[in-house]
Amino acid sequence: MNKKPIILGIESSCDETAASIVTENEQGVPTILSNIISSQVDVHKEFGGVVPELAARSHIDKIDLITNKAIKNSKISLEDVDAVAATAGPGLIVCLSVGLSFGKAIASSLDKPFIAVNHLEGHALSPKLTSNLDYPYLLLLISGGHTQFLSVQGIGKYKRLGTTIDDAVGEAFDKTAKMLGIEFPGGPQIEVMAKKGDPNKYKLPKPIFYKGGCNLSFAGLKTAILKITKQINTVQEKNDLAASFQKTVEDILYKKSKIAFQEFKMINKQTKNTFVVAGGVAANKKIRDKLKTLCEKENFEAIFPPINLCGDNAAMIAMVGLEKFKLNQFSKLDHPAKPRWPLDEGAKFLKGAGVRL
Ligand code: KG4
Ligand code: ZN
Repeated sequence: MNKKPIILGIESSCDETAASIVTENEQGVPTILSNIISSQVDVHKEFGGVVPELAARSHIDKIDLITNKAIKNSKISLEDVDAVAATAGPGLIVCLSVGLSFGKAIASSLDKPFIAVNHLEGHALSPKLTSNLDYPYLLLLISGGHTQFLSVQGIGKYKRLGTTIDDAVGEAFDKTAKMLGIEFPGGPQIEVMAKKGDPNKYKLPKPIFYKGGCNLSFAGLKTAILKITKQINTVQEKNDLAASFQKTVEDILYKKSKIAFQEFKMINKQTKNTFVVAGGVAANKKIRDKLKTLCEKENFEAIFPPINLCGDNAAMIAMVGLEKFKLNQFSKLDHPAKPRWPLDEGAKFLKGAGVRL
């Protein structure tokens, strides 16, 4: 019987230091042996956002400890690892450099292959850790830095169908939270407040709702929220605004996903269609439910990563490592950290907006 590959994954692209061991069982089903995440929320709270230098220093302090914990919890020894996969981008360069150099050093000392991983590909493949998922599938990636519809044709093969032309949806959640006086990172807290509010209380704009195909925009929404926050004071009003904001985002994602479904079906002619929603914002229960309803209507299978794998983690990085290991796709030890690294590298820039489509 062939030995199954054991992959060490390392993630340090922003404010989470994470390490994980992933392998697969006899049937080829991916299996997480350990998944350790250390969040830096307390480091950045008082600054209202991630401070790159502080984040990098915290990664340096913790990466060794977190990786040792991942090895220990997986009950393997470091020598059992067949390859080391580390996030090489996109992200904050000072943060990426920590995990990337650490991963390269381990691979080199063990004399095992090294795999540089695109963080976005980690999110894209995260549902594979818990669900059976065949290519091609339609991906909606909704995180703090990205909002994109992509047709995922295979590992490393992505066709972009739509993107935000300004802010990412996670950024809109975080900025709305900040305007409502909630501590960083406020996105998850908006969901909590929204449960106590009236989603129909405030009518908010839906930029490029009726045009732009499945491209999205959130900047106008933010400006409208800023105006309203200047006129409200009570807790109930704030909850109502959180609920109205969340409902507007749900409506935008619903409408744009419906358009993306048509575009996906035009380029992929299979009978069974799958819609994957991944990234930090995919943890939002209301957004999940709304997009599940759309899938039921449109005959797409809806697949979401479990909530604990929506945000940044190293299991998703090891998952990409596992797939690339099986394809013998290894990286050189001089692979650079890439602050900007789109999944579809051949995509064209949208004229004037500085946005890649
Ligand atoms: O994927 P992620 O952990 O990091 C990036 O790669 O960006 O996503 C983080 C984003 C943040 O903007 C955060 O506020 C948002 O995901 N987020 C949420 C929820 N949980 C995290 N937004 C809405 N509802 C949530 N429950
Ligand atoms: Zn992420």
